Amino acid sequence: MTSSVTVSGPRPLRGRLRLPGEKGMSHRALIFGALARGETRLTSLAPGDDVASTAGALAALGVDVQRDQDTTVVAGRGVDALHESGSDIDCGNSGTTLRMLAGLVAGRPFKTVLTGDESLRTRPMARVVEPLRAMGAVIEGDDGGRRAPLTIQGGELTGRRLTLAQPSGQVKTALVLAGLQAHGTTEIVEPAPSRDHTERMLTALGAPLERVDRQTLRVEHGAPRPFDLELPGDPSSAVFLVVAATITPGSDLVLDDVLLNPGRIEFLEALQRMGADIDVEQHDERLGEPVGTISVRAAPLHGTVIHAHESIIDEIPALAVAGAFADGVTEFRDAAELRVKESDRVLTVVDLLVALGVGAEPRDDGLVVRGGRPGRASLHSHGDHRIALAAATAANAVPGDSTIEGWDAAAVSYPGFLDDLDRLAEPA
Ligand code: S3P
Repeated sequence: MTSSVTVSGPRPLRGRLRLPGEKGMSHRALIFGALARGETRLTSLAPGDDVASTAGALAALGVDVQRDQDTTVVAGRGVDALHESGSDIDCGNSGTTLRMLAGLVAGRPFKTVLTGDESLRTRPMARVVEPLRAMGAVIEGDDGGRRAPLTIQGGELTGRRLTLAQPSGQVKTALVLAGLQAHGTTEIVEPAPSRDHTERMLTALGAPLERVDRQTLRVEHGAPRPFDLELPGDPSSAVFLVVAATITPGSDLVLDDVLLNPGRIEFLEALQRMGADIDVEQHDERLGEPVGTISVRAAPLHGTVIHAHESIIDEIPALAVAGAFADGVTEFRDAAELRVKESDRVLTVVDLLVALGVGAEPRDDGLVVRGGRPGRASLHSHGDHRIALAAATAANAVPGDSTIEGWDAAAVSYPGFLDDLDRLAEPA
């Protein structure tokens, strides 16, 4: 974690941009392609290390995944064609890879060891291990299976009614992948809605999955069909540019072809409530997902209270930067999950804002930001991609040179972010 970059501001952002492909759908598209029988063709797959971890994990299980420039081809041969990996599968920094793969291999009659980097090995895994055990998988791991590495002896699974301890798109997807391989019916009950790409995509692909009510999803034994998909731009990457344009006077930016899943763009409403000047227009639908344009112009912001449930959690580092530039106090509540992301994001976001010269205090389940006049600073990613990107977003808006230590963490989701900032900041 030694790479350091300098970002000089303020630089207004103008013009149009197509963001990197959506990360959550990219993980799912690779896995669903492997489950299908036939060729799946994906364009604009998310470029970062996390999705490369999923592609690598599938390859280790015997799936032929070929990436050639902007096209990735998955030669799906159905779940029965997966075989035991010759070595432990390294999921890198990607919780999504590890948790989803746990559900996939739980139904296979062989042993798989799933592990990851230091951050991933500290993250909670009981949430996925316990329901998979209830379906019949034998899973061992650090601290009784609460942490990776996880050793999963898969085999015959039985469908069950499973109630999740907390809403989670990753865990729900793991259980859907297990449910598609299980005998009988699997029902997944969530205390509150989590992101729903798995339901939308698999339903569009003809897999036996149905929503019973807002909380309950029903899965039968079966598989999706192969498909072609152009991944839309990632809203969780868009948030950094939307905030950067909002807080940098003179900005006028259009983001084309962005995923507009309602559960993924609630951060836009939070920003609009703070005074942001944003328009959204849907143009397309892909595998049940709305896609369109986000336009944003610079605007003065004021503080607000943001209840950070599931669908807004990844966007908090960027929204906290917006809070730093706003008049008054911005409060993030109900966000205890921040503490178990790629870093303890309550602490790492507070550290970022304090370094920028802004008042920020941690709370057990969130943080309080006292907006002010952020200044040039020496910032640190703490090895967390979204902290690195939030730091660059702030640095682009403040006068003078700021440095970001540990910039290489950004490669997990948005390796080209600084290039995109440079391009948008060029005089027309
Ligand atoms: C994800 C779900 C969310 C999100 C993560 C990706 C997904 O986590 O924070 O970055 O792709 O399903 P949870 O599993 O905690 O919902």
